[in-house]
Amino acid sequence: MTKQQLIIDTDCGVDDALALLMALADPNVEILGITCVSGNVALPKVLNNVGRVLDAVGAGPIPIFRGASRPLLMAPYHADEVHGDDGLGDAGFPDTARRPADEPAALAIVRLARAHPGATLVPLGPLTNVALALAIEPDLPRLLGGTVLMGGAFKGTGNSSAAAEFNIYADPEAAALCFDRGLDPTCLDWEVTMATPLLWPVWDRLMAAGPIGGRFVGPMNLSLTERTRGRARPGILMPDPLAMAVVLDPACATSIRAAVAVDTGHSAARGMTTHDRTWHPAPPNATIVTSVDADRFAALVERACALPCLL
Ligand code: RIB
Ligand code: CA
Repeated sequence: MTKQQLIIDTDCGVDDALALLMALADPNVEILGITCVSGNVALPKVLNNVGRVLDAVGAGPIPIFRGASRPLLMAPYHADEVHGDDGLGDAGFPDTARRPADEPAALAIVRLARAHPGATLVPLGPLTNVALALAIEPDLPRLLGGTVLMGGAFKGTGNSSAAAEFNIYADPEAAALCFDRGLDPTCLDWEVTMATPLLWPVWDRLMAAGPIGGRFVGPMNLSLTERTRGRARPGILMPDPLAMAVVLDPACATSIRAAVAVDTGHSAARGMTTHDRTWHPAPPNATIVTSVDADRFAALVERACALPCLL
């Protein structure tokens, strides 16, 4: 059986880290490369965090690529209030010795897509690298087997602003280019994330599932879980892992075809992702995930948390 080949683009915060572990835990997956983009934290910290995740499970020499250190037009935009100053919950993990390849991320995405037709692109952060790759290789969508991204808020309930989800809000111009140039992604958005929390009894079970859960994922999310429990939420929200679940187990998700547009203005709606439901909608340019099966999702997280831990 041929393995599912993934190109993962990430701004490696705590949820990206768990999504990476889910892919690493799947024996039917080959990670062709991990491209890094400024987002949750600054690019150097993203590069270090990807290396720390790979170190934690003793992964092989999966190539890491340095991407955009800022959005296409605007200043860098971070979320360290969620992910901690280092991006992995300030849990004190040792820095990695892994170094990125010399090849820039956008060129690596294009080269890997050309060399591995049918590979799946998995953007988990702002879409700056993906937009640059599309500008370099307009045929990228046809080279890829598909794209599954975490991004958007298609009913208008954002997390970075009232209307916009972080990955889109951080670089709306990059996102608009991706939707307008035929990337045709499957999108796991913020509203489905909010509808699919890992409930606290489930979370506690997953963190006890094995070494990576107890010694890496749990400590990395300690601050976030304490704050979330303190707000009387029913569980923890894990957007990037939900997107990875759609990649690894497509049957866990329901979805619809949709015409999506991104607001690149500078009003209160900047970064908003609209879903055209009018009488005469524009042609569909994306697939929106409408639900994810919570049990199937939890099973994939549990498999990741059961991995051995070398830290
Ligand atoms: O809005 C959630 C998204 O923004 C996730 O990808 C998270 O890691 C941050 O990048
Ligand atoms: Ca992310």
